[in-house]
Amino acid sequence: MAAYKKVPHCIKTQQYTVDELSELFRIAKTYKETGESSSARGKIMTTLFYEPSTRTRLSFEAAMLRLGGRVISTDNAGQFSSAAKGETLEDTIRVVSEYCDVIVLRHTDEDAAERAINYSAHIPVINGGCGPNKDRPHYMHLAQHPTQALLDLYTIEEHFGYITSLRVAFVGDLKNGRTVRSLAYLLGKYHGVKIKFVAPGNLAVGDDIKDYLKRHNVEYQEYGNLASVIDQVDVVYMTRLQEERMTGSSELSASMDRIRLGTSYAMTEALAAKMHDNAIILHPLPRIDEISTAVDRMKQAKYFDQARNGLYVRMALLHQMFN
Ligand code: CP
Repeated sequence: MAAYKKVPHCIKTQQYTVDELSELFRIAKTYKETGESSSARGKIMTTLFYEPSTRTRLSFEAAMLRLGGRVISTDNAGQFSSAAKGETLEDTIRVVSEYCDVIVLRHTDEDAAERAINYSAHIPVINGGCGPNKDRPHYMHLAQHPTQALLDLYTIEEHFGYITSLRVAFVGDLKNGRTVRSLAYLLGKYHGVKIKFVAPGNLAVGDDIKDYLKRHNVEYQEYGNLASVIDQVDVVYMTRLQEERMTGSSELSASMDRIRLGTSYAMTEALAAKMHDNAIILHPLPRIDEISTAVDRMKQAKYFDQARNGLYVRMALLHQMFN
């Protein structure tokens, strides 16, 4: 943890205090109002993505450009970087960290960002979403997408004006969703937050998160369908089925049957209409079919505002690293 302070890496959400989150959100709010600055002038960011991305990579790159910095990039790094020739992540980070001032890393391995900080001694590493790798089940509990959770929490606080005592439902594939893990860790830092996990049994939230919530006295319950919690929560955090993380055809087909064929885990107009007047629907995106597009025009739908906030929160994060 001390290493994170000396070089301000962003690896996992447990590293943040409530005061640090407040300060980050204060800067993000300022950027949402002002749009640009020169706080990264002369700096170079590398986006090193071994997995597909639309929002994380492009909003980080837009954030860096809006701060007056520059960007070098390799998406699909497994195929288009020298990883394709067998170079290790460690060697890649050692070399790339000599070319730039910050690295944003997305990788299949859950511990990739944690490993990377040992080889980028003088510049910060930002975890742009690492893991879970279905072939490395022993590292599953390390899978995180911390900057997504930061923008999720910012969006919640922006809407309600507070986090304390909010009731949050996580819905869908909670086993493989790294954003759920990262956001649950953040919510656990606020007094009185209550969590409802809504998922099929084979995609239930991991014991590591439940243990963390118990240790932090966060009340949580598990449910088998969205309808039973829809009028009892302030935030419904929808997630997609992460087919690319599933191990075998039987797991995949069982999960798809349970999520796609039933309405137990899908958000419809009728369900959204039962939400509290001030309640909101979030989704890290991409959406597949778990939220009806008809819901998009309802006032509860905040997922595109949430994606937009990603730009400002990432600007704030980069601002703090360079100032
Ligand atoms: N939410 C998120 O990480 O989106 P991308 O995969 O498009 O970056």
